[in-house]
Amino acid sequence: MATFKLDRICGIPNFGFGTFPLRGDEAFNAVRTAIDLGIRHIDTAQMYGNERDVGRAIRQSGVARDAFFLVTKVDPSNIGQDRFSESVAKSIDELGGPVDLLLIHWPPEDRELEPALDRLTLEKQKGNTREIGVSNFSARMLRKAHARTNGTIINNQVEFHPLLDQHELLATARELGMALSAYCPLARGAALKSKIIQGIAQRLGRQPAEVALRWIIQQGVIPVPMSTKRHNIASNLSALSFELSAEDMAAISAIGSPSGRLINPGWMAGRWGN
Ligand SMILES: NC(=O)c1ccc[n+]([C@@H]2O[C@H](COP(=O)([O-])OP(=O)(O)OC[C@H]3O[C@@H](n4cnc5c(N)ncnc54)[C@H](OP(=O)(O)O)[C@@H]3O)[C@@H](O)[C@H]2O)c1
Repeated sequence: MATFKLDRICGIPNFGFGTFPLRGDEAFNAVRTAIDLGIRHIDTAQMYGNERDVGRAIRQSGVARDAFFLVTKVDPSNIGQDRFSESVAKSIDELGGPVDLLLIHWPPEDRELEPALDRLTLEKQKGNTREIGVSNFSARMLRKAHARTNGTIINNQVEFHPLLDQHELLATARELGMALSAYCPLARGAALKSKIIQGIAQRLGRQPAEVALRWIIQQGVIPVPMSTKRHNIASNLSALSFELSAEDMAAISAIGSPSGRLINPGWMAGRWGN
């Protein structure tokens, strides 16, 4: 097993494990493998339909629950007053207890933003989650969320990989004292095809995925890669055990463009940049 050192950013372990689109035994087995290899930060969501499988994998791992950092997200369909708290109760039941971090999965309409944040805060007060955060929030929305929650949100989970320029959003998160988590950190494999990343990987004797993840980690961003394969999970963890030079970091940063999004639902059109 690779040796690696985990740090925490705003209390969040700086390497997570993604579970979308895994369900049933595939989700259970992947999470068990990730735990076996030493990962303790696990990312799920109501939308993924796998909270029961993730909860089962954690409970049956033999590792104490308090060693984990478990994240789930409230589905957009549950964001309203009538369903928010009921949906969180169901998540907690399926996951086997309160979570460490509860996120709003996608920003609601502007007029619904503050009520949704108030419901999120209430879940923390009720003890259903230790920490709260958001996902897919733009810089403007993040500032609003920070203000409305009196600075208690600790995280924005967003698409973040070498093919997408997110430097402004990262600067905003840093300014507000929040952690960014990187979903699709490998751009679902597309980042591994970059000639720049392949060249750096070859020169360093690393896998392209390790280089892409290292570029994320070295900016203080928390990747949550998903893999069903033990050798890929182990190799991804190796990103914690080497460093990229400033020149290599800059070369990878130059690849990204603002239009490099993979996840871009039509109803978010026009909302990313403001
Ligand atoms: N908040 C949100 O709105 C949101 C949106 C999307 C995703 N997410 C979260 O972010 C997680 C990660 O994103 P993602 O799963 O979409 O994309 P990803 O982690 O960028 O890519 C996953 C793909 O990369 C492959 N892979 C993993 N490690 C590899 C390696 N070392 N070498 C080659 N291929 C490798 C996996 O295949 P193998 O199984 O074959 O290894 C899988 O097909 C999700 O699972 C989910 O938890 C959140």
